[in-house]
Amino acid sequence: MTDQEFQSELDSRVQQTEEVIRRFLPTEEGYARTVMEAMNYSVLAGGKRLRPLFLKETASMYGARQELAEPFMAALEMIHTYSLVHDDLPAMDNDEFRRGRKTTWAVYGDGMAVIAGDGLLNYAYETALTAYDAAATESEKDRVFEALRILAGNAGIYGMVGGQCADIMTDREQESLTPDLLHYIHKKKTACMIESGFQIGAVLAGAPKEDVAALGSIAEDIGLAFQIQDDILDVTGDQKELGKSIGKDALEGKATYVSMNGLEAAAGKVKELTEHALLAMDGLSQENDFLKTLVEHLMTRRK
Ligand code: IPE
Ligand code: IPE
Ligand code: MG
Ligand code: MG
Ligand code: MG
Repeated sequence: MTDQEFQSELDSRVQQTEEVIRRFLPTEEGYARTVMEAMNYSVLAGGKRLRPLFLKETASMYGARQELAEPFMAALEMIHTYSLVHDDLPAMDNDEFRRGRKTTWAVYGDGMAVIAGDGLLNYAYETALTAYDAAATESEKDRVFEALRILAGNAGIYGMVGGQCADIMTDREQESLTPDLLHYIHKKKTACMIESGFQIGAVLAGAPKEDVAALGSIAEDIGLAFQIQDDILDVTGDQKELGKSIGKDALEGKATYVSMNGLEAAAGKVKELTEHALLAMDGLSQENDFLKTLVEHLMTRRK
């Protein structure tokens, strides 16, 4: 696949992902329309759609039915978006720019941004649950149940929320940062949500258990690399291209892989983790060349 071929394939698959997400968003109506508007504002702002795209790719790799995968794609992006809406709040990272627009709190106010996040988190489960209605057999119902367990676990206190907790504690210097703690933060706040993408698609297809487990480790490497690259881009990125504020980590004295180890070592780590993930992908029972090329490209992403 040439670079150009990959780019146009990526554009088209992100577009398909985008359409799925849009289909599941709430209609803005009634007395609660403002919270629905704020939810849709943040989701429709765009973003790379990587997590639902990973889900779509592993679903097609193992042959899951679209009717089962699509509600989970939308749900995963809703949870991810809620995490960003809350992460940007003045009480957390205090960011006013995200996905090329003003952040949700900057437009709708803090209170509405808090409940837009709550709304997205809850609506994610309402959406994922619709896959249960689409399940045609007992075995498909079991797979939907397992997928829900993965979705919920990775988003909660033993997943992303746990990582955000440790992130806040180190920011406030209530916990001193060690390499082990930084690894925990990255694994939980970022890799867990990526793991959901990789595993849910496979689980919905009834993929072999060994593959589901291997996809978990692969996603962990990719997620760790992804967060280190995010920290690198906070230093070297272009605000316009990235669509979010840069330089905030250094300004706030935030401890990141870059501040602990330097830019060069950080880039080296991203490469090492990515290569490890790519090698492990060769050991899966099914192949997906597009997914491998995508993972490779993330290593040098600028946004
Ligand atoms: C941002 O995630 C938060 C991190 C975990 C680093 P993305 O970089 O995937 O953000 P969007 O979805 O493209 O906006
Ligand atoms: C956020 O990490 C991870 C989340 C779970 C939201 P960051 O705080 O580094 O993400 P950005 O840089 O604001 O996107
Ligand atoms: Mg943060
Ligand atoms: Mg942030
Ligand atoms: Mg960041």
